[in-house]
Amino acid sequence: EEMYLQYHGLLLPKETHSPESLKFVRKYTFSDSDVLAVTYPKSGTIWMQEILPLLLNGGDLRPIHTIPNWDRAPWLEETRLAVVVDQLPSPRALVSHLPYHLMPPSFLASKAKVIYVMRNPKDVVVSSYYFHQMAGFLPDPGTFEEFMEKFLEGRVLFGKWTDHVKSWKHTELGDRIMYITYEEMVQDLPAALRRMSDFLGRNLSEEVIEKIAENCSFETMKTNTMSNFSLIPKVLMDDNKSPFLRKGVVGDWKNHFSSEQLTRFISVISKELENESFSLPWSLD
Ligand code: A3P
Repeated sequence: EEMYLQYHGLLLPKETHSPESLKFVRKYTFSDSDVLAVTYPKSGTIWMQEILPLLLNGGDLRPIHTIPNWDRAPWLEETRLAVVVDQLPSPRALVSHLPYHLMPPSFLASKAKVIYVMRNPKDVVVSSYYFHQMAGFLPDPGTFEEFMEKFLEGRVLFGKWTDHVKSWKHTELGDRIMYITYEEMVQDLPAALRRMSDFLGRNLSEEVIEKIAENCSFETMKTNTMSNFSLIPKVLMDDNKSPFLRKGVVGDWKNHFSSEQLTRFISVISKELENESFSLPWSLD
């Protein structure tokens, strides 16, 4: 489909990625202080774009009112990075959807830390379905049934969910990587922020953690034009069709899956993970 370019077997949207941006990321020089949040699309990326810079700057709120989130913590693989890279404050916050094996050599050589955010794939496919309806740069998703098949086959941006998770579960990063779930963040954001801030070696007071949590809540982000993607032209993202910050809840899949779809979904995903040494943080059924 001509809306995508192919990159090592992955489909990447042409609107946001280019051969040049993919060359740029290969040459990007990671510094030890860089912090990267990695997600499969629709697992909480822009949430991390809001959170990371605030954890790294000690809760200074100015950037979230003056700089759009995609420039506060840009995508490593997207065209925009080259434009803003020199303006990023240090320590730099970045996000990425790349699988581990496509990370640039300088990343492996550095001590840069990674937070991998995982979301229950049943909610990921629902969130992605609505995202395809509103994003003018992605193909029309068709019916939910049709879209779920595409998702399970990996004919969607950044490929199969299971491949992405496997890739980041098998790294040589040791204590440079931390795993967290979207569900954990929804359940208790201050606790999730404390865990991230400890991992990043930040010593943030309870007051600062609470302030960051408040400013990264779904409600606050939804009304902030610097955070809710409403500044993007409607032809690219039409929030009248579905807002980027759509529901922000756990378990919306229950409103979309038929019992046949649930059975099929669980059987495909569990088969692809059956020989894995790790287990998922939630049960799939
Ligand atoms: P829903 O479509 O289920 O609402 P990504 O940023 O990776 O594209 O993920 C988007 C999903 O994260 C959307 O899920 C969006 O609502 C949710 N999200 C973004 N910010 C959030 C927040 N502060 N709290 C809860 N969910 C959030």
